[in-house]
Amino acid sequence: MRADVVDLFELDPALTHLNHGAFGAVPRVVREAQDRARARIEAAPMRAFRDELPHQLAAARESAAAFLGVAPDSAALVRNVSEGVAVVLQALRIGRGDDVVVSNHGYRTVTLAVQANGGTVREAAFDLTASTTDIVAAFTDALTPDTRLVVIDQITSPTALLLPLAEVAAAVAPVPVLVDAAHVPGALPDLDIEALGVAYWVGNLHKWAFAPRSAAVLWAAPERRDGLRPLVTSWSHGAPYPASFDLQGTVDHSAWLAIPDAIDFWQDLGGWDQVERNAALLRRGADHVAKALGAGSELSGIPSAPCMTLVPLPGGVAETTEAAESLWQQVYAAGFVVPPLSFGGRGFVRLAAHAYNDEDDYARLAETLVTLVGGG
Ligand SMILES: Cc1ncc(COP(=O)(O)O)c(C=O)c1O
Repeated sequence: MRADVVDLFELDPALTHLNHGAFGAVPRVVREAQDRARARIEAAPMRAFRDELPHQLAAARESAAAFLGVAPDSAALVRNVSEGVAVVLQALRIGRGDDVVVSNHGYRTVTLAVQANGGTVREAAFDLTASTTDIVAAFTDALTPDTRLVVIDQITSPTALLLPLAEVAAAVAPVPVLVDAAHVPGALPDLDIEALGVAYWVGNLHKWAFAPRSAAVLWAAPERRDGLRPLVTSWSHGAPYPASFDLQGTVDHSAWLAIPDAIDFWQDLGGWDQVERNAALLRRGADHVAKALGAGSELSGIPSAPCMTLVPLPGGVAETTEAAESLWQQVYAAGFVVPPLSFGGRGFVRLAAHAYNDEDDYARLAETLVTLVGGG
């Protein structure tokens, strides 16, 4: 770990952190900004909730929209992607008799949310060697006359792949598309959300954009905005979107208030230049681990996320969820935070890189993995 950078965070120095994508890491200065926001509220709650929060939340929301390159009236604040998904399911009144398409690389809680509403999930299945044509076909093949929504990940969670959003959105039209962009803000440059041809897009700021948990943005296409309501009705009810999502009763708004500080920290750390440095480090690190394990490194033609990628484990290792879980325990006991996982009956380890990582992290991980599972 890079001592000077890791010191900007509160991460346990006894561990090697190679899993930024899971829950992010809140920089010290961002947590301090959140603490200050909380202290200001506690000093005079009446002043805060009546007079200050309405303006402060609008400013935080607009800074998030600017960071994502979207219009200020297009993006609402929600607590996390799970909440954004629930808002969309509510807007579309997804229930019994409705089908929702989710891919086999999708996040499990999206499936659970559809099922909790009484809807049926239809799986768009494609493997790691799929082409863009295969992926588009997987989504169109999963459509039924009852399909009310297609959910597609911009960066997939278990496999860290970048999916062809615009192509899928065009192919499934007029069915509305919700992009699960949980891993995208601060991780993927050159976003042009408005050009994707999708109805909804939701991304977490508390992963790669350094916001405190829980801070996320729900973007909606112009014709979808009037139908969106927060899950909780409170004083913002009746306000136009996206202000209608701002004040939701007496809850802790401090994570949202710290969004501008998180974005400033992200910029100060190097912005997209830093992401490029991390992406190059990840490519070298993943290559090193793959060579040590001797299980190959090239997965497919689907590109991986810049700062997150899979490395295959040797045959027979972590091929089931249980085996992957047991390897996670062993890897963690050896001091590494990095998830082994099983996908399509094959074992992988999902590596990430952030500013606090260096080459040595991957070299030591490679040695540990070789000791635990053998190498090539
Ligand atoms: C692809 C994807 N979607 C949704 C989520 C859920 O995010 P949250 O727990 O912040 O709602 C995650 C979390 O890691 C994710 O990776």
